[in-house]
Amino acid sequence: MKQLSKRAASIHCIKQHISLFACPFCHTQMQLNDSGTMSCSQKHSFDMAKQGYMNFMTRPVASMYSKELFEARQEVIASGLYDPLQRRIAELLKNEQMILDTGCGEGSHLARICAQLPQAVGVGIDISKEGIIAAAKFYSDKIWCVGDLANSPFQSKSFTTILNILSPANYEEFKRLLQPDGKVIKVVPQEGYLQELRRQAFADSEKESYSNAQTVERFKDSFAKVDVQRLTYTVQLSTELVPKLLQMTPMGWHIENSTAVELPQITIDVDILVGEGE
Ligand SMILES: C[S@@+](CC[C@H](N)C(=O)[O-])C[C@H]1O[C@@H](n2cnc3c(N)ncnc32)[C@H](O)[C@@H]1O
Ligand SMILES: [Zn+2]
Repeated sequence: MKQLSKRAASIHCIKQHISLFACPFCHTQMQLNDSGTMSCSQKHSFDMAKQGYMNFMTRPVASMYSKELFEARQEVIASGLYDPLQRRIAELLKNEQMILDTGCGEGSHLARICAQLPQAVGVGIDISKEGIIAAAKFYSDKIWCVGDLANSPFQSKSFTTILNILSPANYEEFKRLLQPDGKVIKVVPQEGYLQELRRQAFADSEKESYSNAQTVERFKDSFAKVDVQRLTYTVQLSTELVPKLLQMTPMGWHIENSTAVELPQITIDVDILVGEGE
């Protein structure tokens, strides 16, 4: 059988889930034709890119994240640094079907979590086109969208789970998108997160340590039922991965002499916030 192009395969995949989509301008139902144009009843239209993603941006935005940052992130995540976090999230989602990752970046967390959940349909949205191009390149079996998580191109009550990993959030929009028993899982860095890197980047400055207590409080105020789990672990880092780690976060850019950096180990320290109900 002839192999479908990335674009044709993504058109085929999105057609099966077209009921998830709503126009980001007028919020009406969308249709997708065979040539890859998605349009609403008011004739706002959006095209499938050749790399296999949909672009729903309604205004231009400049992203601080580059192709190189997302490709470095992909390599670091592929090394297994976030495996315990992805496993913990997958355990929380045993029977979940429709998963939206908001601020998904280059898509590795969503892909690796869905790989542990055979029933799940994964959709990722990010405002950075570079991130979504990388996601569509690495993981062609998921639905990838460039768009604003605060004004997303999806119908209300479409998702059983919303993931929000190390990214900004919009809880009103998340509640609109969730099915009645759905949950939001937000991952927030805590004091020890990449602390070995932070110490070298911001030695002697107040940025050397930080707290996300306010973010956690705001999450608690936004949902009826909230569970908070802390996950902290330290892993050995191979020397080849050090330059990738410096590239994958703006924190690494503060280090002037990056070749002198020694990072034999690195710590992941996050709160996993699970929220349900209004
Ligand atoms: C620190 S990165 C985290 C990416 C990914 N979740 C990860 O952990 O590797 C934050 C991401 O949020 C995205 N982002 C920021 N504002 C956004 C918005 N309004 N809508 C969608 N994505 C947004 C950025 O483009 C970036 O990819
Ligand atoms: Zn419209």
